[in-house]
Amino acid sequence: MPNTTDALLTAADAALRTLFVSPRATRECPTLPERATDAELGPQERELSGALMRVNHVGEVCAQALYTAQALAARWPRGTGGTPNEALARQLEAAGREETDHLAWTQARLDELGARRSLLNPLWYAGAFGLGLIAGRVGPGVSLGFVVETERQVEAHLASHMDRLPAKDQASRAIVAQMKDDEARHAREAQQAGATELPAPVKGVMRMAAKVMTTVAHRI
Ligand SMILES: [Fe+2]
Ligand SMILES: [Fe+2]
Repeated sequence: MPNTTDALLTAADAALRTLFVSPRATRECPTLPERATDAELGPQERELSGALMRVNHVGEVCAQALYTAQALAARWPRGTGGTPNEALARQLEAAGREETDHLAWTQARLDELGARRSLLNPLWYAGAFGLGLIAGRVGPGVSLGFVVETERQVEAHLASHMDRLPAKDQASRAIVAQMKDDEARHAREAQQAGATELPAPVKGVMRMAAKVMTTVAHRI
């Protein structure tokens, strides 16, 4: 069973990899080369797609931070005599690995569009990590409840991007559509694993925090 030092090192390694190393997807990107239509995108469409995909990339940076922090919290014995919840930590890490595909796809798409990543990614990561740690420390039910609510909010947000992305940008749309399906499944899986329903005010604060992030990341 890993001790707290191992768990901390794992979390630090995950943070550095998310922020500074190009992620490698385990699943093929949903965008097929034969469907590439970038040559038809005008400058304004390209700029809008870049901004929206930057927001989605930040969302995936935050997903890495949340899952890593929540796994760390699950391994962190609470009080004296507390026992690490290794099964929950592994479940959270497995979900986080699927988010790595999303991180890789959005990063690759930003590169294709000639758009940059958010300059504030270390800040987004740190903020999401703190939130994940708090949710994880409350207990397994709340930790999973936090996953359910986060994934549902992300799914709704991605649905709104399907309305806003330029119709010609099939490459971005294919990525967002696949991510939306995946996030819905992540919510279902966390629900089935025994999530507790979060109080409405907590959900409201989460929506506000997400609004700040998406508004800022659209530009910076
Ligand atoms: Fe994701
Ligand atoms: Fe997800």
